[in-house]
Amino acid sequence: MINIAVAQSGGPTCAINASLAGVFVEAKKHKEIDKIYGSRNGIQGILNDNLVDLSQALRSDSDVELLKSTPSTALGSCRVKLPDFKQDATAYDKIIENFEKNNIKAFFYIGGNDSMDTVAKLSKYVVSKGKDIKIVGIPKTIDNDVMATDHTPGFGSAAKYIATSMQEIIRDSSVYYLDSVTVVEIMGRDAGWLTASSGLLKVNGETAPHLIYLPEVPFSVEQFIADVREVQKTHKSVIVAVSEGLKLENGRYVASGHISDAVDVFGHQYLAGLGKHLENIIKKEIGCKVRSIELNVLQRCASHLASKTDIDEAALIGQKALEAALGGTTGKMMVFERTSNSPYTIEIKTAEIDIVANNEKTFPKEWINESRNGITDEAIEYFLPLIQGEITPTMKNGIPVHISL
Ligand code: F6P
Repeated sequence: MINIAVAQSGGPTCAINASLAGVFVEAKKHKEIDKIYGSRNGIQGILNDNLVDLSQALRSDSDVELLKSTPSTALGSCRVKLPDFKQDATAYDKIIENFEKNNIKAFFYIGGNDSMDTVAKLSKYVVSKGKDIKIVGIPKTIDNDVMATDHTPGFGSAAKYIATSMQEIIRDSSVYYLDSVTVVEIMGRDAGWLTASSGLLKVNGETAPHLIYLPEVPFSVEQFIADVREVQKTHKSVIVAVSEGLKLENGRYVASGHISDAVDVFGHQYLAGLGKHLENIIKKEIGCKVRSIELNVLQRCASHLASKTDIDEAALIGQKALEAALGGTTGKMMVFERTSNSPYTIEIKTAEIDIVANNEKTFPKEWINESRNGITDEAIEYFLPLIQGEITPTMKNGIPVHISL
């Protein structure tokens, strides 16, 4: 009999718990697996031997279903970067010690680019020590910026929420007969996938958002004001989608004056405040009614509006990860390959972890329009299958029920 462990790392999503559920459900089918551990706060849980016996926490099918529809990381998360083991192997030795103490023979790390750095380093160290412990990465991030996979679990639900919220904002912003500009700030760090997904509304005949600015295109304040003035010639209510990570030609964040200099261990600044910054610029330069809306964490935890496709795929990729590890896979990340767009079909495969770790897949330049302030129809075709289907949340007293582990 062997034990396995699963951990979640990086920013939360609506689908990361579905991947945890996927690993759990598949592991339960295998007689050779005894304990299924959840590691609290990512790799920190293994380091500190802070494990939860998931079979005790998830006692019924309905618990598992609740887990799938609970946003955030049920096991807690972390943003931890392991050192280069050639320089300092202390943490690695502790991890292996705790794996062996708990007879953990397979470890699943659900995370984004930075978390795959842990999978890459740890799997190499484990092999170098001749240990038979499989380390497999399972992708997740609302940012959709992970290499080698068609898309990441969590992105489809965030995109569905963004498109829906954007449509609601459009309705609300158009009620008065006066000139107004509404700036909606969307997450995604240095990749524009999420902000671009606001353009999905075009498929249902919406003309807004009229302007979409992505971090893949250097931002010019002068051009932005000119673009807004141009849209104002035909629309009283102008709706603008901006990515939190917009940068000027000189590489500085547009909102750098509002962003704290503090960085996480991967060197990422905590981005926020761009919408407010642009609101102030419009107030000064154009002088019409202006409002900024920062979707903030709502876009990654709105599980009441999750994409069923996203949640189902997140669970499936977790199941496949378990199968892969039992089949001998290690040092790899599970990936989606889109085999057809219409009808939409995917296959789940594995990718070399070194292609993925610390890399970033940005929004394709060819899916950005000529004016560099909108997206093309090809982008919409790519997005559409990922937001299909709804999950009806379990409700209590009119409020969705979540599970905590
Ligand atoms: O990586 C996902 C993400 O949600 C980004 O879109 C965002 O910039 C970042 O995490 C925020 O990180 P945190 O929740 O750690 O502040």
